[in-house]
Amino acid sequence: MQKIDKFLPLSKPSIGDETIEEVIKVLKSGWLATGPLTQKFEQELSAYFGNRTALCFTSATAGLHAALMAIGIKEGDEVITTPFTFVATANVIAMLGAKPVFVDIERKTFNIDAEKISEKCTNNTKAIMPVHYAGLSVDLDHIYEIARQKKLRVIEDAAHAVGSCYKNRKIGTFGDIQVFSFHPIKNMTSGEGGCVVLDSESEQKFLNLQRFHGIDRSIWDRFSSKGASYYDVVFPGFKSNLSDIQAAIGIHQLREVEKLNEKRRYLSERYRIAFENLTDKIFMQAIPTYDFLHSGHLFPICLYDKTKRDDFIAFLRDNSIGTTPYYTPLHLFSYYQKTFGYKAGDFPEAEYIGERIVCLPLYSELTDEDQDRVIDVTNNFFR
Ligand SMILES: Cc1ncc(COP(=O)(O)O)c(C=O)c1O
Repeated sequence: MQKIDKFLPLSKPSIGDETIEEVIKVLKSGWLATGPLTQKFEQELSAYFGNRTALCFTSATAGLHAALMAIGIKEGDEVITTPFTFVATANVIAMLGAKPVFVDIERKTFNIDAEKISEKCTNNTKAIMPVHYAGLSVDLDHIYEIARQKKLRVIEDAAHAVGSCYKNRKIGTFGDIQVFSFHPIKNMTSGEGGCVVLDSESEQKFLNLQRFHGIDRSIWDRFSSKGASYYDVVFPGFKSNLSDIQAAIGIHQLREVEKLNEKRRYLSERYRIAFENLTDKIFMQAIPTYDFLHSGHLFPICLYDKTKRDDFIAFLRDNSIGTTPYYTPLHLFSYYQKTFGYKAGDFPEAEYIGERIVCLPLYSELTDEDQDRVIDVTNNFFR
């Protein structure tokens, strides 16, 4: 077969001229760190998330870590989560000396199986951290019902879910705490970055301090013309504040994200229709019974025959198509096995999907023509 040179990446951010101009303006402004644009970004995020408070961090990882601290997670505590996620989800739990208690996923949706959560709860369980995998919301009513019964907090890892809806409500506009990622691979980006959305004023106060050394004045207050000269340190916080350069990107991305997601959903539907003739070879993330709106973050397919996965990945690469097998279930990593005693076989559904999954290119600038190439190459492989 003739080699095709134009590489189609798995993902690619969509950055318009207005964003670039805004970044140049910041660079010329003399103020690059957290400042007026970060405040503006947070206000616009708040409006997007139903006027709840949104606090920016350097990443979703930093936001998840700080959110767990804010709800008091400490050594000896247990937090229920999915093994089928990026390692950030569980790493932040482990970093606090707590135990990530994995609950297997549903084979159909690739999301945590809410039916199996209660049996994993102990007296040490303090929170549930579900992940809206690929942008498909988990069954939140079910999860919040368990949390209410067992008096647990919920931190939704919504890294994939900017713009996702559950039963006609946007993720982030309701519930306990949500954490979004603005990494460049995500549906909207600020270069790197993330935000925590929450209601509790005391937890907001904690997060504000945690993201800047535990200093009781924001850096903007101190250095702007109105700023106070002195400050106190009330605990040893970390340094995970967003910069105005990042906020400049994020502000424009947020204004575009609904449109970008529309395009992702359009492309996802094209993939679905194109692969209807491959249902004996592959399966896709199933549609749940509840109302939802997918963010179209990822488009994963799973090969029934797992022995062909590496060949398929190599075939895509040989045809200049980027891909990745998101995710290796976390209980298979050496740290999680050594530290928490997990082993292969513990979460059969996550392993079943983890051995078969391949994500295909999906981003708003992917043209129909380029997507047709991905579809043709996929069809050629399975034929
Ligand atoms: C499910 C999930 N959670 C958390 C993160 C961490 O996001 P960030 O890179 O913004 O720290 C990611 C990033 O890929 C993710 O996919």
